[in-house]
Amino acid sequence: MSGPLPDFGRKYRALAPALLDRVWREACAIEPRPADALKRAKRALHQLHSAFVEERELDAAELALARLEASGDGDDRAAVEACARAVLARHASTRERLATIAQLHGELRARLGTPASVLDLGCGLHPFALPWMGLPRTTRYHAWEADARMAALVARWFARLGQAGEARAVDLIDGGELPAAEVAWLFKLLPTLERQRSGAAGALLERLAQAGIRAAVLSFPTRSLGARAKGMREQYGRFVDGLLRERCFSEESFELGDEWFVVARRC
Ligand SMILES: C[S@@+](CC[C@H](N)C(=O)[O-])C[C@H]1O[C@@H](n2cnc3c(N)ncnc32)[C@H](O)[C@@H]1O
Repeated sequence: MSGPLPDFGRKYRALAPALLDRVWREACAIEPRPADALKRAKRALHQLHSAFVEERELDAAELALARLEASGDGDDRAAVEACARAVLARHASTRERLATIAQLHGELRARLGTPASVLDLGCGLHPFALPWMGLPRTTRYHAWEADARMAALVARWFARLGQAGEARAVDLIDGGELPAAEVAWLFKLLPTLERQRSGAAGALLERLAQAGIRAAVLSFPTRSLGARAKGMREQYGRFVDGLLRERCFSEESFELGDEWFVVARRC
């Protein structure tokens, strides 16, 4: 049985309550002693969240956006791009693809066109790549992420740019309906979900299908955060093959920088 939710510390205070609750329940189911359960829960929270972004990085991202908001330069492309780059550099995943961000969105447009709605799951700070996405401001951009602080930053960014959309702090493991969208982006998300719960990647693909989403772009690192290649591309290749074959998806893929992208379409 799990006791009341403990204090996980400042750095996890903005995580979605449903996620904290689930991680705590799962830790208590394995560790009978509360101190051990707390250690296990904090390890899980580190792996799913603070391994990618630290509080001071979010402080810096908030500052960069506040400067743009205060400057009145919201329509100045150079100022908007400078802010976007400063923010993208604050989360490990977007920092790693900063050099290829324009090329990535060119590739996605060539394969999937310009969608009228997008669902970016476990988005981190990726919505700050909007200046390179080529999306009209009318494209409805749903940005869902575990961390309410990042979701709030994204919501302010959408407001600054006049982008249609919404940002939400959620636990993607715990089910619930997804909004209908033309395309879903699951960048570097499935490995972390699968680590949280075996089978979570497949369950999420099924929820996407229920929401009527016909194309999903998955991505996987080809190097670990520690920057050592370990046959990751082959390992994720086998994982994706199994995941998509079972669910009748066709796939095409490409590599950019240290990231492997899979465009999966429902048959
Ligand atoms: C590897 S990062 C990828 C971020 C972004 N998709 C990108 O590639 O730039 C994974 C993100 O998923 C979020 N995340 C992890 N577990 C989650 C969950 N159960 N529900 C919602 N978001 C989650 C993390 O906070 C983190 O920002």
